[in-house]
Amino acid sequence: MLTKLKYLTSGESHGKGLLGIINGMPAGLEIDEDYIQAQLSRRQKGHGRGKRMKIESDRAEIYSGVRLGKTIGAPIGLIIENMDYKNWVSIMPVDKSTKRIKNITLPRPGHADLAGVEKFGFSDIRNVIERSSARETAMRVAIGSICRKLLKEIKIEIGSRVIQIHDISDDSVVDLTKGAELVTLQADKSDVRCLDKTKSNNMIEKIDSAKKAGDSVGGKFEVFATGIPLGLGSYSQWFDRLQSKISESIMSINAIKGIEFGNGFENSSKRGSKVHDEIGWDGEKYTRYSNNAGGIEGGISNGEPIIFQAAMKPIPTLIKPLRSIDIISKEEKLAHKERTDSCAVPAASIIAESMLCIVIADSVLEKFGGDSILELKNHINS
Ligand SMILES: Cc1cc2nc3c(=O)[nH]c(=O)nc-3n(C[C@H](O)[C@H](O)[C@H](O)COP(=O)(O)O)c2cc1C
Repeated sequence: MLTKLKYLTSGESHGKGLLGIINGMPAGLEIDEDYIQAQLSRRQKGHGRGKRMKIESDRAEIYSGVRLGKTIGAPIGLIIENMDYKNWVSIMPVDKSTKRIKNITLPRPGHADLAGVEKFGFSDIRNVIERSSARETAMRVAIGSICRKLLKEIKIEIGSRVIQIHDISDDSVVDLTKGAELVTLQADKSDVRCLDKTKSNNMIEKIDSAKKAGDSVGGKFEVFATGIPLGLGSYSQWFDRLQSKISESIMSINAIKGIEFGNGFENSSKRGSKVHDEIGWDGEKYTRYSNNAGGIEGGISNGEPIIFQAAMKPIPTLIKPLRSIDIISKEEKLAHKERTDSCAVPAASIIAESMLCIVIADSVLEKFGGDSILELKNHINS
């Protein structure tokens, strides 16, 4: 649960576009549309994306809350137009239409389709597809990029890399001593955002062979934050715990089915002496001999880099569809086919970075406060 920043998104996958509002940003933060776009275009990349990403070239228009290149302490409004809307006007009109629109009646396993139509009482799955689609995450990335800019002002860096696609995994341990951004820039050079070149190629082969078979693949990515001050989050209440806030945000991303901090799952089979990060003193500050906790102890950041890994399930829309039931006739048929990605793990890692930016920015504002960036910096320095 965020305490200082509040944000909402609106918009359908093939509607006019996406809207976003973020409230609670301090005044005086320099931000422009190019900075936001750089993150949006990172989200659009990655081997395995479908044709949609070639049509859309996302750009967020800053609609409100920014004047002369700086935030003014007001809610910030953003708009991302859907370039593809022109091809969907007859299917996605806001007004009543006299045109006959063919209903989609074959729910896709693994999607919100069946649960969505049952829940809302629709006879056309299109109503579900449109908002449950991951298209909405473009706006989250735009909002996250404003938070990223705030964090940059106070020398906190957020990054990520892909560590697994299908059954190919890169088990290397990431070196964060020079900051999260450097590692991330390196990962961005790979089409699958993997730091290992050979593994990258193997991952690409796995995506291609799944696509050829009309199938899809998932994977895992690692997200990290460096320059994190000690003391973000708290153990006082369940909702104050930093890992709870991060988990909530990451698990809200479409198709993300698991998260672990540090070496969470692996640690469960080890003895405590092999897990807990021993404490040292370098003459000025406490140090750690390891970071198996992923930078959070007792719900509080301990000054080490925050590191977590998340798992993404394979994309549910399949070119070779699975069995389904027509929601009107109850006949068994193959599930609906929609233009689709065959793998979106690299894109999901960028979305996760953005979600982490929002949570860390919120936690920083909660701990240090400040109505302006200058005030925030003064509080941190004191
Ligand atoms: C970046 C990204 C792109 C995605 N692209 C697709 C896609 O093209 N086709 C699809 O069926 N699912 C895609 N998904 C996954 C679905 O949105 C998701 O599985 C679905 O909404 C059901 O939600 P759940 O998996 O969280 O239960 C994508 C997810 C992300 C994060």
